[in-house]
Amino acid sequence: MRQAEPVPESTLKKRVLLTGATGYIAGQLLPEFRERYDLRLVDVRPGDGVEVADLLAGAAGDLGRLFEGVDVVVHTAYHRPAGDDPQARYDGERRNVDMMQRVYQLALDHGVRRVVAASTNQAAKWYEQPYFQGLRDRVTPDDYPRPDNFYGWAKAAYESLGFLYACGSLGRKLEVIQLRIVVPREIDAGKFVDQPAHRYVRELAGYISERDLRQLFARSIEAGDIDDEHGVPFHIFYGVSDNARTFWSITNARRVIGYQPQDDSERRFAADIARLLGG
Ligand SMILES: NC(=O)c1ccc[n+]([C@@H]2O[C@H](COP(=O)([O-])OP(=O)(O)OC[C@H]3O[C@@H](n4cnc5c(N)ncnc54)[C@H](O)[C@@H]3O)[C@@H](O)[C@H]2O)c1
Repeated sequence: MRQAEPVPESTLKKRVLLTGATGYIAGQLLPEFRERYDLRLVDVRPGDGVEVADLLAGAAGDLGRLFEGVDVVVHTAYHRPAGDDPQARYDGERRNVDMMQRVYQLALDHGVRRVVAASTNQAAKWYEQPYFQGLRDRVTPDDYPRPDNFYGWAKAAYESLGFLYACGSLGRKLEVIQLRIVVPREIDAGKFVDQPAHRYVRELAGYISERDLRQLFARSIEAGDIDDEHGVPFHIFYGVSDNARTFWSITNARRVIGYQPQDDSERRFAADIARLLGG
């Protein structure tokens, strides 16, 4: 009997596992993801089409089933630490590092090609201080991570663990992309009326529109070869729109995955900017 012609890979929908599927960031991605990918959704909370699983407490054997046959894992699951004192914050964020490590390991063990994770600019938030003091013009993904809180520290840990999984020292090279999202929401100027101007400027610099956020994740999922100049498939990209005031560099995202943001906070919020900063 004649064998059926294999379907070219480019015409197959990628099989994507989305963790944290009932969360805020996932909610922005899902309308497009549902069209674009063969999706598997996971969260500790139930939701439309969501398989309920706990990525921290679940047995590796049970969780492994979710990673089988998956091309790309998009990790947006996030455990919100309870309590405000430093020890509670540290303990809570350590659980997020544990969850990220489990996702990398399960992906490596079950043949997943790539992990795309939601990170944050807070992994290097301290640099905002010299920027606003006029002592630095730009922050790039190559600057040494300098978090100034436990949330950012955990994200910096996601990133350095990601490099370890990508460099091949554990056997296969797992492709890893970390997206340092900054301000993924519409900016309510009313909240900044009585604030120093630089707080509002910081939001404008970090804005990412919903359609740019979706594009950034889609390009991170779909880009072909992402090896760097040393053959390591690991990248950190800032998640911002094409903002006139930005100081977080996205030149590597433009180059490596072809990210072409369509929005600019300067135009999107022109009327608010004239009112708040005009004088
Ligand atoms: N929302 C923002 O403004 C923002 C900005 C920058 C970066 N980020 C990053 O994006 C990621 C997602 O943020 P979000 O705002 O969507 O958070 P969220 O709290 O809205 O969503 C996180 C989801 O993860 C799920 N979850 C928690 N523990 C889990 C576990 N053990 N197993 C499986 N699922 C679990 C939660 O139920 C929730 O649905 C985080 O890493 C966050 O740091 C968010």
